[in-house]
Amino acid sequence: MRYLPLFLLLLGLTGCTPPAADTTSPPSDETTSMDNTTTDRWRPGYHFTPPSGWMNDPNGMVYHDGVYHLFYQYYPDDLKWGPMHWGHATSSDLVKWEHQPIALFPDDKGYIFSGSCVVDKGNTSGLGSNGKDPLIAIFTYHDMDAEKAGEEDYESQGIAYSNDGGKTWEKYAGNPVLPNQGIKDFRDPKVRWDDKTARWTMTLAVKDHIEFYSSPNLIDWTYLSRYGDDSPVKGGVWECPELMPMRVVETGEIRYVLIVSINPGGPNSGSATFYYVGDWDGTTFTASPQPSYAPRELERWLDYGRDNYAAVTFANAPDDRTILIGWMSNWEYAQDVPADQFRSAMTVPRDLTLHETDFGYRLHQGPVPELKTLRGASASLPDRFEPGTTTIDLPTGGAPGCYELELDLELLSSSTEIYFDLTNEAGNKFFRFGWSTLIYGDERMFFTDRRSSGLTDFSPKFAPETTTAGVRWSNNSVLKLRVLTDRTSAEVFFDDGATAMTDIFFPEEPYTQLLVTVTGAEDSMDATAGYDVSGGRVWALREAGE
Ligand code: FRU
Repeated sequence: MRYLPLFLLLLGLTGCTPPAADTTSPPSDETTSMDNTTTDRWRPGYHFTPPSGWMNDPNGMVYHDGVYHLFYQYYPDDLKWGPMHWGHATSSDLVKWEHQPIALFPDDKGYIFSGSCVVDKGNTSGLGSNGKDPLIAIFTYHDMDAEKAGEEDYESQGIAYSNDGGKTWEKYAGNPVLPNQGIKDFRDPKVRWDDKTARWTMTLAVKDHIEFYSSPNLIDWTYLSRYGDDSPVKGGVWECPELMPMRVVETGEIRYVLIVSINPGGPNSGSATFYYVGDWDGTTFTASPQPSYAPRELERWLDYGRDNYAAVTFANAPDDRTILIGWMSNWEYAQDVPADQFRSAMTVPRDLTLHETDFGYRLHQGPVPELKTLRGASASLPDRFEPGTTTIDLPTGGAPGCYELELDLELLSSSTEIYFDLTNEAGNKFFRFGWSTLIYGDERMFFTDRRSSGLTDFSPKFAPETTTAGVRWSNNSVLKLRVLTDRTSAEVFFDDGATAMTDIFFPEEPYTQLLVTVTGAEDSMDATAGYDVSGGRVWALREAGE
C-alpha cells in the first residue's frame, strides 16, 4: 500500500479509469460557467468550495497587497481526481472568496501538483518586471506518463511567476528548477524566506521523510538536510510539509513548527496531519525534547478528525499571524462522497498559536475572528447541563446547518460523559461530539461520531466507528469549547483549540437542533452532578456569499 503508485492510490482504489489528460487546454474563464446555487444541495454556506469539479489540497496560499490568494488542486472536468491544475480564489477578509480563472494548467512536463507561493521581495529571481516584486509559485510537476511507464523520477519542482498580483501566470522557461533525485514521492514544496541565512528555504516531502533545500533566487536549489528518519509515524507517504517560525505565547521565544501530512497513517485511519516543534539553525531542524515527565513522542496530531488534510499556512500573512487552511476530506473516501457539482470543501481559515504546556509545546487553533461577521441571531445556553438530555432549538435565520457554539464547561461531579448531538426534527440522524471524563491512563478522551449522521453508505471507510482523540488535557475541570458547523461539516475545537476534530457528514435534511446529554449520573443522588456552563451562546451563521 505504502508505495503504490500515486495514480493508483488516487484513482485505482475506486476502480475508475483516469480521465484523459487535457494538457493543452488554453486558459478558460471558469467563472462564467457556474450555476451552483439552486441544485447543489451539498454546497456549504461559508466554507470554500470550487465552482464545479474536483478539489483537493490548498496550494500557494499567500497574502499580497491586501489580498489573500488561495490556490488549490483542481480538476475542473470531473468530480474525481484527474489532471491537476491550480484553481484560484481571492479574498480581502478570509470570509468571502471570489473565484478567479485557473492559474496553472498541466503541460507537457506533467500535472501541477501541490506547492506554495511567495512574494519575491527584492526580486531575487529576476523574474519581476517594472521594478516590482513578482509572486512566485513553486509546485511539483508530476509526469503521469513517466509514472505509468514505471519510471521512478516522475516528480520534480517547477516555478511560475506573476507580475500582475496573481491574475496571470507564466511558467519559468528553465523548469524544472529542482530535478528529481532518483526517488519517487518527491513533492509539495513549501518555500519561505529564511531570515537566519538570508536565503530561501524549501521544505519538501520525500517518501517518508522531509528534505530541506536552499536557494538565493528560487531558481538554483541546494540540498541542506533531511529530517524524520527516526519517526514512528510511517504508516504512509509524507506529503505537504511546511516549516515556519512561531512565537511561543508564554515565553516570547521563537520556535519552529514542522507540519507534515501523511496518507494513510492518521490516528483515526486514512489521511491526517501532524507536527513537530523544535529549532531551525538555517540548515537542519531539530525537534525540542519533551519535558522529562511528559510522553516521549515528538509528533502531535494537528487534527484528530478524519477531514483535515494537507493543511498549510499563508505566506506573508499580516500582523505576524499564522493562518492555516486544510482540505476537508480524506483520501480513504474523498472520491466517493455525495456530490452533484463539486467535490469537497476547505476548512475555515484558522489562526494558529504556539503554547508551552506541561506536556510540551502545543499548537492551539481556532477560526479566524473575521468569521464572526457571519454571526446572526443567537441564543444563550442554559447555565447548567444536568444529567439527562437537554434539547436546544438552534436559532433560525442563518444558512442551512450553519451554527457557531461557544461555551466554557465546568465539571461538577459524578458524570462520565457529555456529548452534543446536532440533529434535525426527524431525529434519527445526528452528528455527535463530546468527551469522556474518565481518565484512560493519563489521557482524557474527546470523540466525534458520524455513524448515524445521514448518508454514510457510499463508502465502508466513511463511518465505521467513533473517532477519538486521547489527549493530555491542560485543565482538568474547565473545558473551553468552540464549534463551527456548516451543512456538511463540523469543526470542533476542544480545550481552547488545543485539540481539534474536523469531520464532514451528509444529512438528508440540515441539522436544526442540538441535544446535550450528560451520562453516568442518572442514579446519583448528587445534587451537583452535571456541568456548569459559563458564557454559553449559539449563533446562526449567515452564508458568506461572494
Ligand atoms: C496530497 C497530494 C499531494 C499531491 C497532490 C496531488 O493530497 O497527494 O501530495 O501534490 O495531493 O493532487
